[in-house]
Amino acid sequence: MNTAATAAPDLGAAMNASIDQAPILHAVDVTKSFTQDGTPTQALKGVSLSVAPGEFVSIVGRSGSGKSTFLSVLSTLLRPDSGQLTYNGFDLTTASEADIDGLRHRDFAVIFQFHYLLPYLTALENTLLPFMRGLKPVSRAQKERARECLERVGLADKGHRLPGQLSGGEQQRVAIARALVKDAQILFADEPTGSLDSATGSTVMELLSQIHKDGLSVVMVTHNEQYASLSDRVVRMADGLVV
Ligand SMILES: Nc1ncnc2c1ncn2[C@@H]1O[C@H](COP(=O)(O)OP(=O)(O)OP(=O)(O)O)[C@@H](O)[C@H]1O
Ligand SMILES: [Mg+2]
Repeated sequence: MNTAATAAPDLGAAMNASIDQAPILHAVDVTKSFTQDGTPTQALKGVSLSVAPGEFVSIVGRSGSGKSTFLSVLSTLLRPDSGQLTYNGFDLTTASEADIDGLRHRDFAVIFQFHYLLPYLTALENTLLPFMRGLKPVSRAQKERARECLERVGLADKGHRLPGQLSGGEQQRVAIARALVKDAQILFADEPTGSLDSATGSTVMELLSQIHKDGLSVVMVTHNEQYASLSDRVVRMADGLVV
């Protein structure tokens, strides 16, 4: 089931990603509703999306149109009420929680508007978090990998700092390093620049573009049309539908 894993992180291959290839991620007619205080909201009314290996897709739309809900379903943080979701041909709608958990841990990376770094861990330790499962100590190789990722996001010299000792843009870059550390196949980003000023946001976007050019598939929710235009394809949502 691992067509993406065989795609070498080669700039040319990533740039030439096309919908002719079997999709890495494929959602068909997905619905999701929430009930809050007895009132139901249908956040997704039947949305479909195919992401090709190495493709960078942006999702834009007004507040409340269902973008975050869709991203949460695509990244398996939420289960859809109906519809189908496949990853490299593997049906995620019928998969067990354990299988989904394993897959998400191995192949998916997620970053949010707010970085969710742990305040009492250093930048390096935060970057190492995906390796901290169970009681197994992190290895020297994993530490080296985390250092490489911090270097990749331009923070080689700040690994020892706590999040509170970093700027907002630097904190978001640590979150990106943490997302990269596992060698994921697909990165989901929900308004990764939403809490940053425009100069810092541009730096973070440049970084995401570079990471995409190295071969990672990216699905990003954004309000910023300029940032959306950096992606291969823009998907617009309105009122729970792709329009
Ligand atoms: N956990 C939840 N419980 C109840 N309703 C929810 C929940 N999450 C989302 N909703 C509702 O679902 C709809 C879609 O929300 P969603 O967060 O997906 O929108 P969005 O497009 O990401 O908006 P924004 O641009 O403001 O982040 C909204 O009406 C929202 O109020
Ligand atoms: Mg949102």
